[in-house]
Amino acid sequence: MTRVLVLNGPNLRRLGVREPEVYGSATFEDLTALCRDAGRRLGLQVDVRQTDDEAEMIRWAHEAADERLPVVLNPAAFTHYSYALRDALAQLKAPLVEVHISNPAAREEFRHTSVVAGVATGTIAGFGMTSYVLALRAVAELLAGDGTA
Ligand code: DQA
Repeated sequence: MTRVLVLNGPNLRRLGVREPEVYGSATFEDLTALCRDAGRRLGLQVDVRQTDDEAEMIRWAHEAADERLPVVLNPAAFTHYSYALRDALAQLKAPLVEVHISNPAAREEFRHTSVVAGVATGTIAGFGMTSYVLALRAVAELLAGDGTA
């Protein structure tokens, strides 16, 4: 089974209690279970992680680059300013799907910029936790190379 890293940036472990009107009531544990279940159905072995630490996130990007692993990434606030993370992600050898629970384009001005988007294969935003399921599906289709993704 192909391994996929599902990486989550700052504050995402607080899903369920953090601004539920924006991010919903499901918890990070719910998100982990959803991703693992979607992965099982798609034939992907999903490794879900979260960090509030930019250095740790960069180390995970290096690991994905070295092991040629596909990545589904919610960079959270790093999206909007972390050139260091972007430079790490530029080294990936397999698909990178940027995901967001909310639709940053419909929110505050500072969220309209993603410094990550330019090195991602594509971006899925605004579908709540379903954004992750759609991203995993995109990864599966890209890996299958059947031209539908
Ligand atoms: C987010 C959107 C970002 O702007 C924000 O900083 C987050 C979560 C989302 O999933 O909607 O932390 O990435």
